[in-house]
Amino acid sequence: MNESLKVMTVVGSLHAKSVTRVAVDHVAETLRAGGCEVDALDLAAEPLPLVNTDTTFGADYYGPLKVRVQAADVYVLGTPDYHGSVSGALKNFLDHFWKEFTGKLFAPIVASHEKGLTTHDQLRTIARQCYAWTIPYAVSLHEKEDITDGAVNSDYLKDRLAMLAADLQTYGTTLATQRRADLAGTSPSFLAQLRK
Ligand SMILES: Cc1cc2nc3c(=O)[nH]c(=O)nc-3n(C[C@H](O)[C@H](O)[C@H](O)COP(=O)(O)O)c2cc1C
Repeated sequence: MNESLKVMTVVGSLHAKSVTRVAVDHVAETLRAGGCEVDALDLAAEPLPLVNTDTTFGADYYGPLKVRVQAADVYVLGTPDYHGSVSGALKNFLDHFWKEFTGKLFAPIVASHEKGLTTHDQLRTIARQCYAWTIPYAVSLHEKEDITDGAVNSDYLKDRLAMLAADLQTYGTTLATQRRADLAGTSPSFLAQLRK
C-alpha cells in the first residue's frame, strides 16, 4: 500500500486536564512524524448527541462524521476507566457506527487507577461485535505516575506508546491492504458481506 496509513484518534474523556488526552495526543504526534495521516476527534471539542436510532442517522452532523470514520484504517481509542468500563462519551461515539469499523484495527489506551484491564476487555468485546481487530496487549496509564504537567513523563508509558504506535502502523497497514483486497476480490472472507 503506497498511500499513508489513515488513523483516527479519539479522546473519550471530556474534562480539560484529561490525562487520556495527553497520551492520545502523544501517540498522534508520533504517528504524524511517522508519515501517518491523523484525524483527531476530541469529544470535548466535538461533542456528539446521544445516539437515538430514530434521528441520529439523518442528523446534520452524522454524514460528515461518517465520512471521517470511513476514511480511517485504524482507531486509537482513548478512554478513562469508568466503573471498570469505557466512558459514556467513547461508548456513545462507538455506538454511532459498526460496519465502518469492520476489518479495521482498534488500538485502545486506558487511563485507570488500576491496570484498566476490564475496560480493555470491554473494548475487545465492542471490536468483536463490529468485526474489528484489536492490538493484542493493553496500554494503560496512571494519572499520577505517568503524566506530569500535561506531558507523558514516565519512561514506562513512553515505551508503551512507542510500541503501540509502531505496531498499529505495521498491523494497521497489513490489515488495510488485506481489507481492500478482500473487498475487491471474491474470497468468502468475513468482509464479503461489505462488497457492493
Ligand atoms: C465516574 C468515574 C468512575 C471511575 N471508575 C474507576 C474505576 O472503576 N477504576 C479505576 O481504576 N478508576 C476509576 N476512575 C478514575 C479514572 O479512571 C482516572 O481518574 C483516570 O485517570 C481519568 O482519566 P482522564 O483524566 O483522562 O479523565 C473513575 C473516575 C470517574 C470520574
